[in-house]
Amino acid sequence: MRLTEVSPTTDNCCLLNRCFLNNPLANVVVIGAQWGDEGKGKITDLLSRSADVVVRYQGGVNAGHTVVVNDQTFKLHLIPSGILYPNTDCIIGSGTVIDPKVLIEELDMLDKLGVSTSHLFISESAHVTMPYHRMIDQASEERRGDHKIGTTGRGIGPTYADKSERTGIRILDLMDPEGMKKQLRWTVNYKNVILEKLYNLPHLDPEEVIAEYQVYADRLRPFVADCSLKIYDAYQQHRNILFEGAQGTLLDLDHGTYPYVTSSNPVAGGACVGTGVGPTMIDRVIGVAKAYTTRVGEGPFPTELHDEMGVALCERGAEFGTTTGRRRRCGWFDAVIGRYAVRINGLDCLAVTKLDILDEVDEIKVCVAYEIDGHESKDFPTNARQFSRCNPVYKTLPGWKQSTIHCRTLEDLPPKALDYLKFLASIVEVPIAIVSLGAERDETIIVEDPIHGPKRALLYSNGESQAMSA
Ligand code: IMP
Repeated sequence: MRLTEVSPTTDNCCLLNRCFLNNPLANVVVIGAQWGDEGKGKITDLLSRSADVVVRYQGGVNAGHTVVVNDQTFKLHLIPSGILYPNTDCIIGSGTVIDPKVLIEELDMLDKLGVSTSHLFISESAHVTMPYHRMIDQASEERRGDHKIGTTGRGIGPTYADKSERTGIRILDLMDPEGMKKQLRWTVNYKNVILEKLYNLPHLDPEEVIAEYQVYADRLRPFVADCSLKIYDAYQQHRNILFEGAQGTLLDLDHGTYPYVTSSNPVAGGACVGTGVGPTMIDRVIGVAKAYTTRVGEGPFPTELHDEMGVALCERGAEFGTTTGRRRRCGWFDAVIGRYAVRINGLDCLAVTKLDILDEVDEIKVCVAYEIDGHESKDFPTNARQFSRCNPVYKTLPGWKQSTIHCRTLEDLPPKALDYLKFLASIVEVPIAIVSLGAERDETIIVEDPIHGPKRALLYSNGESQAMSA
């Protein structure tokens, strides 16, 4: 298969794109193009090989990344998977919310496994998840009854709510022992009113909370840094920065399926706000999408399968949440959502994961449009009520009925599997750079390395690569 070689020369490459000039690498954002759980952990782990710095920019311990290296499985909630590379700096940015208890458990686990964490940095501006956040998250879900969101119950929404309400506790607040005592005494007493009066829950003892968080503060102190400055220094030194999104586009607070969303901005734009870098510092955006779709929690899901195919995808794909163990809802690939993700994130290319899960399927459906109230539309409706009335319009493709797990190049793929990928690329209107066929690092087809080299293209609908830009 021919890849169009477009070698950039100083003549034809854009001066603003510094990666073409002084540095052959690029600063990239990796985002989830669906409802989270797309396999971003594996893709960021792969791309981290080319990165000098890996940065988490939003979310908290609601996220869960599974990385498998040499049969060893690492489950990480907060620490970027780049931690497995000893020379890669890992940053937990200001847009994240940090549950110190969970973070320390992760640090301990990595210590036990002999993975160094000396290259981890935590933003002093990140907000801290407190015990009352978890209590309020779980109690308010119960109160919502039929209107529940299906949160992970990890206190994410209430932590971000306090940030907006300006009653939040930041990492830098924990670093000042005397200041922290005063602040926590006031805040815990304030929250006790809500816990007791609104939710009928037992109150918290401020002194116990202070004692607990003092221990956390002491443990985390060596990792705390001005991370925006650290990233900027890395940028100026032409180091290669990878911004790692958690959750997915459809869970974005502003652009997702509100109210069935998380409380942060997983979209690519969130990388700037959540780390304190300007948009001109980002060179490309890579979307990760499964070859089908999954969703955890409540909310509309047009291509959801309620039949044995849904059960088969769930079982074959081991679709159970890393964080909560909940069974994920499964359905066909939704190209309306795919196109929306391309638009909202400005995707340069896509990494398609779990193609192998479709190996046994006779016929594969792809949703190419929605039927809403008698009209067909290829555009994603931002009105949640409209979205819940959308019916998928499907195109059916033949399955390949053959294992793909050992394929390492596009040529190794069964022709029908390649046709399926070409169809996805053409319908979503973005090239495919990476195809993942298993959890292990090497169970992957790298069509074109999206970090190294010029912005050239990858797998397009005609099966050949075409220049994206020169
Ligand atoms: P929260 O983020 O715990 O408030 O949950 C809000 C919604 O986002 C729920 O539907 C969760 O199931 C979903 N969610 C949060 N984090 C993840 C994730 O990492 N993967 C998939 N879904 C998530």
